[in-house]
Amino acid sequence: MNNQITYTNLRPEHAAQLRQLQLTCFPNVSPENLFTEDDFVHMSTYLADLIFVALTDGLAVGMGSGIYCNFNFANPLHTLDEIVGDGRCRNHNPNGSYYYGTDISVHPNYRRRGIGSALYALRKDLVRRANKRGIVAGGELPGYAKYRSQMSAFAYLTKVVSGEFYDPTLTFQMSQGFEVRGLLPNYFHDKTTDGWASFIVWENPDYRKEQDEQKRPGADSDRKHSS
Ligand SMILES: CC(C)(COP(=O)(O)OP(=O)(O)OC[C@H]1O[C@@H](n2cnc3c(N)ncnc32)[C@H](O)[C@@H]1OP(=O)(O)O)[C@@H](O)C(=O)NCCC(=O)NCCS
Repeated sequence: MNNQITYTNLRPEHAAQLRQLQLTCFPNVSPENLFTEDDFVHMSTYLADLIFVALTDGLAVGMGSGIYCNFNFANPLHTLDEIVGDGRCRNHNPNGSYYYGTDISVHPNYRRRGIGSALYALRKDLVRRANKRGIVAGGELPGYAKYRSQMSAFAYLTKVVSGEFYDPTLTFQMSQGFEVRGLLPNYFHDKTTDGWASFIVWENPDYRKEQDEQKRPGADSDRKHSS
């Protein structure tokens, strides 16, 4: 078997495999709250540039997806549904100033070999080329499931941020340069973590404000949710 990993943008033929990947990577989320095959087919028609797929031997083993949106940092509490709009991410606004990461997932058999990092590198490269301000996301806290009877989600988050606890998702995201800005209640439907998520941000160090203002007058005042 050739284990080389290649990366490409979303295409309709990936849809069935990506649905299966969703079910495998998010076993505690109700299937109806995950992207469907049909969602992927639709997203391939208008979001392909923002969605990266990792392939090995023709098999989709990883995906990093997102939309562009404006974001109100003065009022940062949000749920995933409020940001994306629906399963097909119709809230995508091509002029939005941030890339909002809707999902990053790697098949369990292929984790810890750099695929997640490569997907983040592709997202950051896209954000730099598009001159967006950065990447925003709500992050799963899978490690909290083990501790939720013992401590609050905030106490757990604090311990992960300080390095006392390791969380397979958040620790990885912090190592990718994401800053933890807070905690999001009822972010999504995962009963093992009571729906808590981290609120994480990566600011694009190469963002050129003047160029953005020329292209989109008023760009500096658009840090509000969605379109
Ligand atoms: C989070 C997730 C996407 C990471 O994907 P991944 O492919 O394992 O990511 P990487 O391999 O790049 O990095 C993961 C860790 O393995 C380490 N690693 C990378 N290559 C490695 C190698 N060759 N040998 C040993 N360790 C390695 C990385 O340093 C990183 O360590 P850290 O957690 O201490 O930072 C994956 O765990 C996943 O799909 N989780 C479930 C879904 C999920 O929670 N998604 C996030 C939703 S917000």
